[in-house]
Amino acid sequence: EGPVRPLILAIESSCDETGAAVIDGEGTLLADVVASQVDFHARFGGVVPEIASRKHVEAICGVCEECLEQAGARLGQGPLAWADLDAVAVTYAPGLMGALVVGVAFAKGAAWAQGLPFIGVNHLEGHLHANKLGAADLRPPLVASLVSGGNTLLVEVRDWGDYRVLGETIDDAVGEAFDKVAKALGLGYPGGPVISRLAAQGNPDAIAFPRAMLHSGNLDFSLSGLKTAVTSYIGKEREVGRPLNVPDIAASFQQAVIDVQVAKALRALEETGATTFCLGGGVAANPALRAAYQQACDQRGVRLVLPPLSACGDHAGMIALVALERFRQGRFFGLDADAQARCDL
Ligand code: KG4
Repeated sequence: EGPVRPLILAIESSCDETGAAVIDGEGTLLADVVASQVDFHARFGGVVPEIASRKHVEAICGVCEECLEQAGARLGQGPLAWADLDAVAVTYAPGLMGALVVGVAFAKGAAWAQGLPFIGVNHLEGHLHANKLGAADLRPPLVASLVSGGNTLLVEVRDWGDYRVLGETIDDAVGEAFDKVAKALGLGYPGGPVISRLAAQGNPDAIAFPRAMLHSGNLDFSLSGLKTAVTSYIGKEREVGRPLNVPDIAASFQQAVIDVQVAKALRALEETGATTFCLGGGVAANPALRAAYQQACDQRGVRLVLPPLSACGDHAGMIALVALERFRQGRFFGLDADAQARCDL
């Protein structure tokens, strides 16, 4: 009796959420605790790296304690002790360097003190694996779109751990474009949720914003031109004293993003011959984007797997899912491993 081994504690600190999760040998998340710093960054209109690092330093012990307590309660016992664990995992890349370092140093310290194996996880691989939370039977080959505040990627997943980047943004990330457009409209940070809420009340055909790189012949994206088109439209409307129709602007901007995202995803599916598509990252929570993919995949007989809404943003549960796979493969990191701000899948 007792928990199904291994028990792995995973930590996430790559941006502005401090997370800790415990996973068991069956892939069940016994606890998945997130402390968000978003309120501390909102007044600056974006994530301030030094504040992120400092808030991780403040939060990380409490988040881990809470996580060990919840995992223990789930097993019908008192708080888990570090000595009850079989490995410690952490996001080592990509992300804000100073933020990553906090989690990496903390996880290493715990692994070292307990003599436990140490596992480094790529954050993007975490977003990809979050899809397993909605579909335990998800198997490669597949194509995935990873869209967040820092990344915009189309990836061919030939097998878990065997990835080929098919295309990526040459400038801004999709989430970043949502955040910048929201800022231009004075809607605060983060912009994605508020833009998508307003867009639901607007007309997506009201304003013809550009579909950048739709016919570029490759699978790369560009978002900065769209952001500029929206901000200059806002400027011109203000200049002539016309009141802004914010829902129409939000809906038209969002539709321009969706059209290119979906078109390129369909091309990636064609090129690879994959029949499963999945989505990951904060922007994967966008209802219109999810609906557009659903319609496009249904029409082509492609299986669409989406992460649960609660698992789109940053959290340690997705890192724990990857860590369990690494544990089974016996792929561990040395205690000399370092954080990396940039890293491909
Ligand atoms: O994955 P995430 O939590 O953090 C990063 O690793 O970046 O993603 C955050 C990003 C932000 O840019 C936010 O505006 C965007 O995801 N986002 C959305 C929505 N919810 C969050 N973008 C569009 N529509 C949404 N509903």
